[in-house]
Amino acid sequence: MKISGNTILITGGGSGIGRALAEGLHAKGNKIVIAGRREAVLDAVTAANPGMESMLLDIQDEADIAAFARQAVARFPNLNAVINNAGIMKPENVPAADNLAIAEETIATNLLGPIRLTTALLPHLLKQPHATVLTVSSGLAFVPLAATPTYSATKAAIHSWSIGLREQLKNTSVEVIEIAPPYVQTELLGPHQAVDPAAMPLADFTNEVMTILETQPEAAEIIVERCKPLRFAEATGSFAQVFAGLNAQHG
Ligand SMILES: NC(=O)c1ccc[n+]([C@@H]2O[C@H](COP(=O)([O-])OP(=O)(O)OC[C@H]3O[C@@H](n4cnc5c(N)ncnc54)[C@H](OP(=O)(O)O)[C@@H]3O)[C@@H](O)[C@H]2O)c1
Repeated sequence: MKISGNTILITGGGSGIGRALAEGLHAKGNKIVIAGRREAVLDAVTAANPGMESMLLDIQDEADIAAFARQAVARFPNLNAVINNAGIMKPENVPAADNLAIAEETIATNLLGPIRLTTALLPHLLKQPHATVLTVSSGLAFVPLAATPTYSATKAAIHSWSIGLREQLKNTSVEVIEIAPPYVQTELLGPHQAVDPAAMPLADFTNEVMTILETQPEAAEIIVERCKPLRFAEATGSFAQVFAGLNAQHG
C-alpha cells in the first residue's frame, strides 16, 4: 500500500485504534473519512483534524451498509481504501447461557460487517488504479481468549477470509492487508483497558503499524513485535503454552 495520496474510509474511526490510524494516515497526506454510530465522537475527531470527514454507519445493519456504501462512493469518488476496523468484544458465559445475544451481535459487527461493507465497495474499488482492503483481526485470531469465544472466532474468521479474498483479487488492482493487533490500550473492553499496563500503549502500536506500512509496502499482514508470540504460536509449537498463559492472565 502506498502511504499517501489515498482516500481512506475507516470504520470505527472515532475512537481507539481506528482514530489513531485515522490521525496517523491523515498526517501522511491521505484523505480520511471516519465512520461509526456516535456522531458526537466522530465530530470531535473531525474538529481536531481539519480536512477529515465523517459519516454515520451502523455496521450491524445490512440495509444501512448498502446505503452507506452508495453514499460514500458518491461523496468520495476517489475512495480507494477501506479499513474494516469497527468491532466489539464482550465476555460470554456459555454454561450460564448468557451468550447468544452477544454471539449474534459480535458476528454481525466483526464478521458480517466487514464482509458486507467490502462486498458493497468492491465494484468501486476494482475501478481504481490502486486500491486496498484492510481488515483488522487480532492476536486472538491465532490463540483464543476463552472468556470471549465468539470474539476470538470472528477474528480467526476474518484472518481466513482475508487470505481467501487476497487470493480472489490477486490479479486485480485491489490488495488485501490484515492488521492483527495485540492487546492495546483502548476502551474496547471498557475504560480500564485504556490504562491497563499489560496492554500496549496505543501510540506505540500505531507508530509500529505506520512504520511497517511505510517500510514494507508489500506486506500482506501487519504484525507488530508484541503480537508475534500469538501470531506464530502454532507454527513455533508453543500454542498450548501461549494459550495457557493468555487464559491464566485474562481468564
Ligand atoms: N484494543 C485491542 O486490544 C485490540 C486487539 C486486537 C484487535 N482489536 C480490534 O481493533 C478494532 C478497534 O477496536 P479498539 O480497540 O480501537 O476499540 P474501540 O475504541 O472500542 O473501537 C471500536 C470502534 O468500533 C465502532 N463500532 C462498534 N460497533 C459498531 C457498529 N455497529 N457500527 C459502526 N461502528 C461500530 C465504535 O464506534 P461507535 O461506538 O461510535 O459505533 C468504535 O469507534 C476492533 O476490530 C478490535 O476488535 C483491538
